[in-house]
Amino acid sequence: MSTLNGKERLLITGGAGFIGSHCISYFCRKGFDVVVVDNLSRKGATHNLQWLKESVNFRFYQSDICDYLAMQAVFQQECPFDVIIHLAAQVAVTTSVLDPRTDFDINACGALNILECFRLYSPDALLIYSSTNKVYGELNKIALVEGENRYQFPDRIGISESQPLDFHSPYGCSKGSADQYVIDYARIYGLHTVSFRQSCIYGERQFGVEDQGWVAWFIIAATLGIPITICGNGKQVRDLLHIDDLVKLYYLSIIHRDILKGEVFNVGGGYSNSLSLLEFLELLQRKKIDISYTFGATRQGDQHIFISDNTKAKNILNWEPIIPYQDGINRLIDWISHNRELLKRINDIA
Ligand SMILES: NC(=O)c1ccc[n+]([C@@H]2O[C@H](COP(=O)([O-])OP(=O)(O)OC[C@H]3O[C@@H](n4cnc5c(N)ncnc54)[C@H](O)[C@@H]3O)[C@@H](O)[C@H]2O)c1
Repeated sequence: MSTLNGKERLLITGGAGFIGSHCISYFCRKGFDVVVVDNLSRKGATHNLQWLKESVNFRFYQSDICDYLAMQAVFQQECPFDVIIHLAAQVAVTTSVLDPRTDFDINACGALNILECFRLYSPDALLIYSSTNKVYGELNKIALVEGENRYQFPDRIGISESQPLDFHSPYGCSKGSADQYVIDYARIYGLHTVSFRQSCIYGERQFGVEDQGWVAWFIIAATLGIPITICGNGKQVRDLLHIDDLVKLYYLSIIHRDILKGEVFNVGGGYSNSLSLLEFLELLQRKKIDISYTFGATRQGDQHIFISDNTKAKNILNWEPIIPYQDGINRLIDWISHNRELLKRINDIA
């Protein structure tokens, strides 16, 4: 385990996004010297940035990770970093299907730009990569049972890192490609890297939209009176991981940086925090949050069920989720109800 002096320099790409804004807030408060890169392309990113600037100190570069010269300039100005958290990405599977080239440019080439700057200017840093459970594809060879409201695994509680990779969708391919580069940079160049294959992350300041961030999106849509479409029969199951649990995991990985050389971990809310879309709608109805919905076509490559087996992260990083989905969802509902006007503006509602 590494002892931290509390003044480590940390680069966060995509820092004005959902996960990034929580990382900035958390690590600034812990005393880290935080540098942020974001091109502010995500709706809500500018608001996150403004909110952060009012509460904590960090240096911000409005730059695009696809621009290698711009990334070099940030590294030359700010290096050496002790930690790099690479979050910037095109994050929606649907968008990746419509425009696979842009998706690849950002998620694969952009990640390679960050890896190259890391290798050349800050080789002693730990690089944390926010990968995705989508690298395991549709999981259609795993036996399933179709219950009344959800799919279930008959013989297991989760998917571990030994699950074969199966990139499906341009997003799966571009994120999966970066995931493999992150592992290989440890192997080939001897660098410290870790890839977290994340399940569904949710929480406050998530500007969920129809194409990404469904937990927040359902509540936002209900609050703003926007009807939603459930893709498929709604029995798809996801394990929900609250953002605070994820940020704590990133912190623990920094403490354990010495043993992280190309490690991968599946990280999610686990079985006890798993919910199907139908179960989530029922939960909202019990809270008197009415939502108008219809059913649409199943999305290509959509997993019927994903529940992370967190055993490796528990054994090696001493991490497990502690925020039950019931509490996390209440917190998200509170945040959304307090930010109704902002969410109306962001969703272009008069
Ligand atoms: N939220 C989840 O459930 C989830 C699950 C698995 C993996 N991930 C991964 O976690 C990371 C962060 O996700 P998030 O939910 O915070 O998404 P987000 O969209 O809120 O944040 C991404 C940020 O990256 C920025 N960005 C996008 N393209 C950029 C570019 N070319 N250059 C610089 N900045 C750019 C956006 O402006 C945004 O602020 C992503 O890599 C995503 O693939 C998220």
